[in-house]
Amino acid sequence: MTRNIVICGPGGRVAGDTTVPGDKSQSHRAVIFASLANGTSRVSGFLAGEDSLNTLEAFRAMGVEIDRPSDTSLVIQGVGMHGLTAPAAPLYMGNAGTGMRLLAGVLAAQQFSSTLTGDESLSRRPMARIINPLVEMGASLAGDKDNRPPLHIAAAAAIRGIDYQLPMASAQVKSCVLLAGLYANGKVTVTEPEVTRDHTERMLRTFAYPVNSDNRTITLDGGGQLQACELEITADISSAAFLMVAACIAEDSDIVLRNVGVNPTRTGIIDILRLMGANITLLNERQAGDEPVADIQVRSSSLRGIEVPEHLVPLAIDELPIVFIAAACAEGTTVVTGASELRVKESDRIAAMESGLLALGVDATATADGMIIKGGPFGGGSVETHFDHRIAMSFCIASLRASAPVTINDAHHVETSFPGFFSLCAKLGLKISGETR
Ligand code: S3P
Repeated sequence: MTRNIVICGPGGRVAGDTTVPGDKSQSHRAVIFASLANGTSRVSGFLAGEDSLNTLEAFRAMGVEIDRPSDTSLVIQGVGMHGLTAPAAPLYMGNAGTGMRLLAGVLAAQQFSSTLTGDESLSRRPMARIINPLVEMGASLAGDKDNRPPLHIAAAAAIRGIDYQLPMASAQVKSCVLLAGLYANGKVTVTEPEVTRDHTERMLRTFAYPVNSDNRTITLDGGGQLQACELEITADISSAAFLMVAACIAEDSDIVLRNVGVNPTRTGIIDILRLMGANITLLNERQAGDEPVADIQVRSSSLRGIEVPEHLVPLAIDELPIVFIAAACAEGTTVVTGASELRVKESDRIAAMESGLLALGVDATATADGMIIKGGPFGGGSVETHFDHRIAMSFCIASLRASAPVTINDAHHVETSFPGFFSLCAKLGLKISGETR
């Protein structure tokens, strides 16, 4: 098999004024809601990454007309809540847990049957967490062995309301239940154990669907309609996080990242880095529709190790791999706990990060639900990404402080969430060279 290999560093400084691609969570949701709305929606800032493009193709396969006047803008002719048509083939969601879990909520309520498939990584991820509440709501669906994908979804009978206590802090599961709930005869209430990203709730309001949020409890009534709108997707703070840490850990660095979404359910990374002593300033704070947005300036910082407060974990769940790199560059020890969800992401991110850190000579110890990292100088080495975009990007950034090159094996998956990541890094001052073996 050909391996896409990128060699990074060692060293470099980071400088520039740039914009990272659109938010992945908002991009999936924009396609879903605009497809189900009445009327024509215009979306700007769409993430032209593999994950969100698979969601777009799935709705095209169900009869929705979607034009892409540019890479990042969409014009979507909504078909209304009951206007989707049966897809001719299984819907392929690639690497995207969000795509699969959110679509399952919609498809579980349709009058046709469907199948959702994914790549090797997605095919290993747990789906019982969405199958259980959907079945309780009257849907009929099952995975293959151990309820892993593919997901086979039967044509729906009536969808019932539900009062559901989420067993884990997961915005994907919350959103799946709310999406099926749009079709319910009655009220849907979801209570989360900890606050998770609330883009579904905000975007439902943008599409004029009433939703009530009271701390960790979200309620809506099924049977309503979505109204088409103009929607501006903000730049993805999860992508910005890699460059924020890059500027913190590299010498003599200063970057500005424009138009980044700073929804308080996503800014755990800013809080964690500030606790570690990072030099971060939010400029031009404003609203993009229902989402808060800002420009973020980050300068070289002397980071120190911390115990990451557990309530910040769900608010920085996708950023923990890059937090581990920040920790490796900090003075003292960093401890992350309460993050067992990392074990069921695109890879087992606790195991993947531990083995990569050890390959570079960092003092890192994985625990059941987190990691203990002692900061200090480290070397180069060869790192496996386990086909996980965020592992690849984390170790690219680590090369800024490595004493020898860092070789990243199977780097292609950065395209799922951050198309053009390596070329942007090179432009900002990282040392990047690529090859295929
Ligand atoms: C997402 C929710 C998170 C996150 C994923 C995107 C979403 O997953 O890891 O990248 O868009 O709802 P969980 O909610 O399952 O933790």
